[in-house]
Amino acid sequence: MRRISVCLIAAMSGVLFGGTALAQGPTSAKDNERANALLKQMTTEEKVGQLNQPFFFPVPVPGMKTDTVSYEDRVRRGEVGSFLFLTDPKKINELQKIALTETRLHIPILFGFDVIHGFDTEWPVPIATAASWDPAQAEAGQAMAAEEAGHAGLRWSFAPMLDIARDPRWGRISEGAGEDPYLGAAMARAQVFGFQGRPGSPRPFMATIKHFAGYGAAEGGRDYDAAYISEEELQNVYLPPFRAGVEAGAGTVMSAYMDLNDVPAAGNIHLLHDLLREQMGFKGFVVSDAFAVGSLVTQGFAKDRLDAAGRGAAAGVNMDMGSGTYLENLKKLVDAGKVSQAQLDELVRPILAAKYHLGLFEHPYADATDGTHVEMLAKHRAAERTAAARTAVLLRNEGGVLPLSKSVKKVAVIGPLGNSGADMNGPWSLTAKGEDSVSVYAGIKAKLQSADVEFAEGVQIAKAFPSSFDGLFGAKLETPWSGDEAASEMKKALDLASSSDVVVMTLGELAGMDFEYSSRSSLMLPGKQQELLEKIQAMGKPVVLLLFSTRPLDLQWASEHIPAIMDCYFGGTEAGNAVADLLVGDAVPGGKLPVSWPRAAGQIPVYYAHTESHKPYDSKEFTSRYWDVETSPLYPFGYGLSYSTFTISDLKLSAKSSPVNGAIKATAMITNTGAVAADEVVQLYIHQKYGSASRPVRELKGFERVTLKPGEKREVTFTIGHDERNYWSAAKNGWVVEPSEFDVWVGDSSAATLHDSFIVAE
Ligand code: NOJ
Repeated sequence: MRRISVCLIAAMSGVLFGGTALAQGPTSAKDNERANALLKQMTTEEKVGQLNQPFFFPVPVPGMKTDTVSYEDRVRRGEVGSFLFLTDPKKINELQKIALTETRLHIPILFGFDVIHGFDTEWPVPIATAASWDPAQAEAGQAMAAEEAGHAGLRWSFAPMLDIARDPRWGRISEGAGEDPYLGAAMARAQVFGFQGRPGSPRPFMATIKHFAGYGAAEGGRDYDAAYISEEELQNVYLPPFRAGVEAGAGTVMSAYMDLNDVPAAGNIHLLHDLLREQMGFKGFVVSDAFAVGSLVTQGFAKDRLDAAGRGAAAGVNMDMGSGTYLENLKKLVDAGKVSQAQLDELVRPILAAKYHLGLFEHPYADATDGTHVEMLAKHRAAERTAAARTAVLLRNEGGVLPLSKSVKKVAVIGPLGNSGADMNGPWSLTAKGEDSVSVYAGIKAKLQSADVEFAEGVQIAKAFPSSFDGLFGAKLETPWSGDEAASEMKKALDLASSSDVVVMTLGELAGMDFEYSSRSSLMLPGKQQELLEKIQAMGKPVVLLLFSTRPLDLQWASEHIPAIMDCYFGGTEAGNAVADLLVGDAVPGGKLPVSWPRAAGQIPVYYAHTESHKPYDSKEFTSRYWDVETSPLYPFGYGLSYSTFTISDLKLSAKSSPVNGAIKATAMITNTGAVAADEVVQLYIHQKYGSASRPVRELKGFERVTLKPGEKREVTFTIGHDERNYWSAAKNGWVVEPSEFDVWVGDSSAATLHDSFIVAE
């Protein structure tokens, strides 16, 4: 059933993704008329109240200032347009009732939350879903999340995160689609459609595309640090996913925290007005990131909170998340004539229109009962298991170690990620319960019921400098082992390995290590995991390394010594069962890397779509390199193995030349030459050889994940037209489509060799 529905959505996506995406506003003319009518009745105080989004915490959070006014009274006073972080349906209904019955205009509250990759059921983390190279899977996941969160009374998610990330030291690489603007744009559209529904079949739920813009380019990968991005890179690399999200109708945009080219994003007129509203035509509302309007003072941009409110409003931040700066100051600015009523109305209108659009006035209440959580899990587990298996990337499989035989007698599962359901949920799984999730150990035991499957942790891992987020969301903080305990746990693991037929190593990072506030300077396996791995490898047993993390880790040693390596990310609720399916071949890996895999941290940033230096990349004289490490990444972008084999051949272009406004079709034949049904992701890359600017050596411009039976073939076709050749040229200070010569490659990764070329004439 699940496969059928994914295919149907894929077929629908093809229609929309192939052509120019539909530009549509998030709200209708009628929503705006209703908002205008309401605005006419509102006082300045009531308008400002709609722009305020306080946090709701059921218990006071250490280090966070507690409001002196109760949540209930804030609502009574008409000072809450939206709450974030409240997920209890009973409390939501209580507060909603106050808004609807005890305020003058009965305007409902919009409840928002970080529904990043699930709510009751956790879908794989977003970077894993990107590794599926299947936008339909991304759409299905966010549709599930919207349904689950909707029952709790939430109508708004602060997702998808569309930040391009080319620095895996940045922990939030987990939340995006990786390094590539084209893949990122496909995942952006799909997720917006997932949350909000398709045009013609809307869902009463709203997406937020975030963080606008350039947050993933934080210097050194340090979360929140400054980003310096040229207009060229912003337009060609960082903005395409946002453009796609706006075109898909995203209701809200979240401004980023950091300084972009020295101007904080929450007060950045170029970003929020010129690019977002003028150039992209965004018609919804902008919410700041948490506390970001107030932080304009900390960032050395605004003089004080009054000035910060003025600057946020001038840039077009409609809703102030968490800082209370608007609530405290906007009326003062209106009274002083510094913000006009018309400006204030511009800020409030899209928020009211969104409330009408979502049907909040008609259906304001949550309908979850005590049984909803369990019902949702029962409904979504099977699809989640399939989805998780489709994200795994098989990096190495020497001698066909995988799949394992189902008649294996004794299996050792070893490593700090092996027996944790909670970590499998991944970062930003704030409402899912760890006990609902299947650990790898549990999944393998359930799969191999006649085998003896045993687990040993071996080593513990922890952050050297924990953040204030650790523990805040229920993450397990282990008491560190003493020296003797550590030695004895290591010994237990080695003894277990030596008495087993195969060792499944479950190494990587804890979910909280790949999160906000979770940057790293190194890509080595944290703690003593490398030592454990080397000791076990030295025993000469067959070893499978399952990697759980969202950033690529340093696998230089493992890539030469461990025969089978599979990147499993954090697969969500059913991760352990999905991994077990993959281990024995009940599922076949078909995921592909959404980021180039560096050999070592010192190579960062390493991404495939770089430009050529004056010594070509593949020449012996290539000098833009380090003398101590190979130039190439360890595994290229788009790479991933299968239990089957494929050939991609017969590249044909519909013409060898095209006018500037024409299009060329590229077709290639894909054949499953192996013994099992499996998936391959066929990828199209192009390169413009000359023009008004140097273009990347390769750029992804098409992909399709196909499933083929043994011996089966299929022709895939890609269009290379205006949209694929359009780019922002620094020399022209604008968008260009130029006459030039183009290389074309089709293959199974960014290292594809099947090549042809064509000319674009004047
Ligand atoms: C800060 C994060 O940067 C943002 O992504 C998130 O949505 C808000 N906090 C609310 O949790």
